[in-house]
Amino acid sequence: MAIQPIRFFGDPVLTTPASLVESYDKELRNLVEDLIETMHEAPGAGLAAPQIGVSLRVFVWDIDDQVGHLINPVLDLTEEMQEGDEGCLSFPGMLYETPRAMGTVAKGFNMYGEPVTIEGTELLARCLQHENDHLDGVLFIDRLSKSDRKKAMKEIRNSEWFGLAEESGTVPRLKISPHDTMGLGL
Ligand code: NI
Repeated sequence: MAIQPIRFFGDPVLTTPASLVESYDKELRNLVEDLIETMHEAPGAGLAAPQIGVSLRVFVWDIDDQVGHLINPVLDLTEEMQEGDEGCLSFPGMLYETPRAMGTVAKGFNMYGEPVTIEGTELLARCLQHENDHLDGVLFIDRLSKSDRKKAMKEIRNSEWFGLAEESGTVPRLKISPHDTMGLGL
């Protein structure tokens, strides 16, 4: 197991649709372990494989002390919506009001290839939608109101992390306050 560097907005892997997992092998189980360890170290409440540079349809979460993972998920959403702030480990320190469905049923597979169904409301539903978006190359800023998106883009341009990848030619590591996304880093 190893903690992996988290990719920040600007890294093309974050806007690339991820591939379906085809082999439920040791490599996949290592990926799930790395995702969980990296999420806990951040700390965050969810993490998708593209966020550590692996373009596969895998994500993990830790919500209400329940750690889970899902491979090749397909989501069903309730029509009822929820309001609330949301953050993303690929946008350190940013939090924006992000509309999401109130409930989610996510069907997929565990790391052994067994079918699983995860049902969630509120924060778990928000997390499942956020992480599933990552697998489609969709980011939470794409879900914001027009005015918030403008504000977010400005905050990104002024952030200390934006552009680090291009400058150094390597994946940047940045230590951020564990509390600045209020447990909403997804
Ligand atoms: Ni995220």
